[in-house]
Amino acid sequence: MKIMVLGGSGLVGRHLMSCLRKRGHEVVGTCWKQEPKELTRLSMSNLKGIDAILKRGEFNALVICSGFTWADGCENKPAKARLYNSILPGKIAGICRRHNTKAVYLSSSYVFDGKRGPYSETGRPNPLSAYGKSKLDGEKRVRQFGGKNALIVRTMGVMGCEPRKKNFLYTVIHQLRKKKALSVPYDQRGNITCATDLALGICLLLEKNKKGVFHIAGKRPNARRSEVAQSIARHYQLNEKLIRPVATLEFKSKAPRPCNGGLLTEKARKQLEWQPLNRWPEWNLLSKGKEL
Ligand SMILES: NC(=O)c1ccc[n+]([C@@H]2O[C@H](COP(=O)([O-])OP(=O)(O)OC[C@H]3O[C@@H](n4cnc5c(N)ncnc54)[C@H](OP(=O)(O)O)[C@@H]3O)[C@@H](O)[C@H]2O)c1
Repeated sequence: MKIMVLGGSGLVGRHLMSCLRKRGHEVVGTCWKQEPKELTRLSMSNLKGIDAILKRGEFNALVICSGFTWADGCENKPAKARLYNSILPGKIAGICRRHNTKAVYLSSSYVFDGKRGPYSETGRPNPLSAYGKSKLDGEKRVRQFGGKNALIVRTMGVMGCEPRKKNFLYTVIHQLRKKKALSVPYDQRGNITCATDLALGICLLLEKNKKGVFHIAGKRPNARRSEVAQSIARHYQLNEKLIRPVATLEFKSKAPRPCNGGLLTEKARKQLEWQPLNRWPEWNLLSKGKEL
């Protein structure tokens, strides 16, 4: 297959590109502020540019891994969140439809309120935050404009190697290596998803030409964030006693968190014969900040 990945420089996009290539697919990826050599620099708002690439390329699918992904930032800038997470993805899905290309949109557990989780794909969304609202609206628009073949992949708590070192895995490792205490919420429950597991799940969804909504996330939909931090510490032989479990309210985050917002993944397990392996990256890859 021939696949275009918007946001190939991000955490999810880079793992997806790597997995697709390993499985023998042809991939074209884009970046925005980071500029890895093998990627094309292209803004999501450059709809003409996206149209031209799809027109030339006969792509089977375009995966939208780009967007405004910082939940607290979205709370401060809801109009920007709506533009990059919802309006532009909808327009891009419309372009895909015109070129007979499947539109795939990465969405989030933040579409749920986290009051009665974990949730299956048929759970009732009720986002609490500007980020969650923009993602739910993005899902609707991609399905509306991308047509029947569009695919929505919801995930949460993605961790893995990335040059920006911004995901939770790095937060825990950096803090504990400096022998500093780290406060982590004990009342936020949900899946921790290894980026490699997510990438394989998306590859299988594409290969099996699935459409509609799928949850692709890690093994334990009820894992407490503080326990996850402790298990990361144990895995990398760091001092888990430095993890300080605290209530979410203590963080005073801008964006409200869906505290019990885990994702159930039975649909993907049954239809794809996929299951998360939950393997943390090897230490030497992480410590060198090495790419895949
Ligand atoms: N990570 C998670 O835990 C998680 C959980 C649930 C859902 N998701 C969803 O999964 C998707 C990917 O997330 P991620 O963690 O991989 O995000 P990320 O690491 O923040 O990557 C975002 C990507 O979007 C690109 N981008 C940002 N602004 C852009 C613009 N104006 N035009 C074009 N590209 C732009 C970035 O390019 P540069 O880096 O080159 O600037 C980067 O490639 C998002 O839709 C997110 O909502 C992620």
